[in-house]
Amino acid sequence: MIVARELSKRYGDLLAVDHVSFEIGKGEVVGFLGPNGAGKTTTMRMLTGFLPATDGTAIIGGHDIFSDPINARRAIGYLPETPPLYPEMDVDGYLRHVAGLKDVKRRDRRAAVDQALERCSLTDVRRKIIGTLSLGYRQRVGLAQAIVHDPPVLILDEPTRGLDPVQIREIRRLIVDLVSPSRGDNQRSVILSTHILEEVEAICQRVVLIKDGRKTVDAPLSEVTADGKTLGDLFARVTSSHGHEGVDPVTEEGSS
Ligand SMILES: Nc1ncnc2c1ncn2[C@@H]1O[C@H](COP(=O)(O)OP(=O)(O)OP(=O)(O)O)[C@@H](O)[C@H]1O
Ligand SMILES: [Mg+2]
Repeated sequence: MIVARELSKRYGDLLAVDHVSFEIGKGEVVGFLGPNGAGKTTTMRMLTGFLPATDGTAIIGGHDIFSDPINARRAIGYLPETPPLYPEMDVDGYLRHVAGLKDVKRRDRRAAVDQALERCSLTDVRRKIIGTLSLGYRQRVGLAQAIVHDPPVLILDEPTRGLDPVQIREIRRLIVDLVSPSRGDNQRSVILSTHILEEVEAICQRVVLIKDGRKTVDAPLSEVTADGKTLGDLFARVTSSHGHEGVDPVTEEGSS
């Protein structure tokens, strides 16, 4: 569903993303990890077509993000690092606006917005002006705009940032439910970046870790945490090592 193929991004002298490839299948939630500045946001912005790649491409739901952007983007729900909210609109109006932009048919928009509001626990604040909401509520609105058109692919840049513990749990439950729906809807694919390793352990099946723009780990969580190892240990080891030395062989090119 999500294929990154040798994605690279150069900013002047800095190769912020260096030939990163991975594949994420239906029903998979992948945790995208890496220290600050590793290139996670840059990679996600290329996956969604918001940022042109210096090299490589991404295929989303079978559509090339750069040569077939309309179809590829239709398949994507994207929560950017800084969600594109209109502070002067109310929550409901904003989500109806986004649903329109995402080609949700006019007659289906009300139901689509209601479902997104409910899923993100926003129904009570639907008439509030976005600019007056707290950080956590704005983050929920960001999530709601990502899912309002019911996309098969979710690309979430730190989805639980700024949320309170109860809401963190609800959003994690929502992500799991979207991927393995109980009602027989289509399965989805999710890549989410986070600095909360516990979040990865709670909801991800696989871990992709980048450092200095390069993929250094791509492995099932079960492998990474086998024999009493912890994700924290792996993260510390990989992010403190230089280049590709010291990387555990099991972590090279995991299953996909
Ligand atoms: N527009 C830009 N121009 C120049 N350099 C940039 C630009 N955007 C990002 N960078 C650089 O690219 C690198 C990767 O940044 P990126 O935001 O992708 O990291 P990240 O993994 O998302 O980090 P964080 O965990 O802090 O969110 C950093 O060194 C950053 O300074
Ligand atoms: Mg980032």
